[in-house]
Amino acid sequence: MGHKTKPVIRLDTFTNKMRLETEGLEVFAYLYAMLMDRPDYANISHRGMPTFAEHCKFVLSEPYRFWWLIVDFDGKRLGTAYVTFPNEVGVFIESRFRGQGYGSAALDAIENHPCMGSTRLLANVAATNSRSADLFTGRDYKLLQRTFFKDIP
Ligand SMILES: CC(C)(COP(=O)(O)OP(=O)(O)OC[C@H]1O[C@@H](n2cnc3c(N)ncnc32)[C@H](O)[C@@H]1OP(=O)(O)O)[C@@H](O)C(=O)NCCC(=O)NCCS
Repeated sequence: MGHKTKPVIRLDTFTNKMRLETEGLEVFAYLYAMLMDRPDYANISHRGMPTFAEHCKFVLSEPYRFWWLIVDFDGKRLGTAYVTFPNEVGVFIESRFRGQGYGSAALDAIENHPCMGSTRLLANVAATNSRSADLFTGRDYKLLQRTFFKDIP
């Protein structure tokens, strides 16, 4: 596609304790809505939706190395992104904002984040998620492996 001008976005760290205490419920609700907004084709594991309580517990467990809200220049939320402890990156743009260059801009910001340092980022992309594959290959990520699965009853 190619975007003429790259949108300006910012990565907003929301996971510090003080912030979660003051705006917790609202942020938890946003992240929960983002989870519901995730298309089926983007899911690698086929777990169902957690309950809201399970979700809050997960957020509070500090599951990722970094976890951000993706916001535009005036603070409007566009989606979320994280980097796991084994350096797997995830980018999730709200469905109404997809295809406008925000995912690509967020990936850029993650790669250049001052906390990232020199490292290898990995992206696990569902075989059915070609848009996401395009996002990563378009930013020079190389195919490392193919993962097969079989459910044994
Ligand atoms: C995958 C996702 C993060 C991409 O973010 P986005 O803001 O929609 O993508 P961008 O507009 O920055 O486009 C990035 C690339 O994706 C592809 N792409 C984006 N929108 C597309 C569309 N409507 N049709 C086809 N390809 C598209 C293009 O290759 C594009 O490359 P370009 O920048 O050279 O045009 C976003 O679609 C999303 O949140 N999807 C659901 C969740 C998900 O699958 N996350 C990935 C898990 S790691």
